[in-house]
Amino acid sequence: MAVLVLGGAGYIGSHTVYELIDKDEETIVIDNLQTGHLEAVHPKAKFYKGDIRDKEFLDNVFKKEKIDSVIHFAANSVVPESMTDPLKYYDNNLYGTMILLKSMVENGIDKIVFSSTAATYGEPENIPIKETDKTEPINTYGETKLAMEKMFKWVSNAHNIKYVSLRYFNACGAHKSGKIGEAHNPETHLIPLILQVPNNLRENIKIFGDDYDTKDGTCIRDYIHVTDLAQAHILAIEYLKKNNKSDIFNLGNGIGFSVKEIIETARKITGHPIPAIVSPKRPGDPAQLIASSEKAEKILGWKQIYANPEDIIESAWRWHKNHPLGFKN
Ligand code: UFG
Repeated sequence: MAVLVLGGAGYIGSHTVYELIDKDEETIVIDNLQTGHLEAVHPKAKFYKGDIRDKEFLDNVFKKEKIDSVIHFAANSVVPESMTDPLKYYDNNLYGTMILLKSMVENGIDKIVFSSTAATYGEPENIPIKETDKTEPINTYGETKLAMEKMFKWVSNAHNIKYVSLRYFNACGAHKSGKIGEAHNPETHLIPLILQVPNNLRENIKIFGDDYDTKDGTCIRDYIHVTDLAQAHILAIEYLKKNNKSDIFNLGNGIGFSVKEIIETARKITGHPIPAIVSPKRPGDPAQLIASSEKAEKILGWKQIYANPEDIIESAWRWHKNHPLGFKN
């Protein structure tokens, strides 16, 4: 029986496919290649180009292949874009998931793990953030992911489907092989933007605000390596097979690093001075986001391998240094 990975040509999806294949799992990938890259799909995975909003297409894949579980990454995830084009997010993330669920119900597929986000919490009440903390998203992206979680809850209530929702904090780093890594266009994330400086693609990095109520005035985030995230999906599938129970888990390192600390670490790793310029705050940035991943550690048996920013940035640099233009080179 195979695992179907929706969005398996994207950043976190492609890394999860690499880990599945490493474990000799039969893996099928669906991606519409809107933001994903064909080059990121593991050569041993079977690939179908298509969109999760196309029910006939999904039905055909479920009928043709022997699939017993689904991992769902196929979504848009750029926070600022979600604020200027909210309907794109409702369409792809929410409507897309609704079509997927319809197809799963009709085809008798009953296990799914899907990507959620720290953005479901909004401004946190407590640090570290627990799964039981209040969820009040402050952007459309987080709102659509929270709505997806609720859709899963009610559909699972009515039909024989069990789900695990994984709320990622700041995904980063690249696969140890150096073959795949982060490649967004346009890039909005801190670490790849910083690494564009030593790659001579930008002159400096902008620090969005240095008067936050944090140790050095810059925002604090919980940076979690993409391979550690990938492993959590495999554990979540095992959990569903063993326990037949739905649940929600945070995935982070539980340690916060400031924007300035990340830039300093990148200077050390790359040996480049990486000039930084303090710029205005970006709207909608919470000062601090740090996960409690105790629940995932205890229930899923999840262990992070990349616990410090040096290792994370080193792995990202290995990828970006050799692929400054992402999969275009
Ligand atoms: N930052 C800068 N300069 C930059 C880019 C980012 O100072 O050029 C800062 C941001 O203000 C933020 C931190 O670096 O404080 C991290 O920013 P990212 O854009 O890398 O990541 P976010 O924390 O904004 O977003 C991440 C995920 C989202 C998810 C969100 C949850 O990428 O998908 O966490 O809050 F929704």
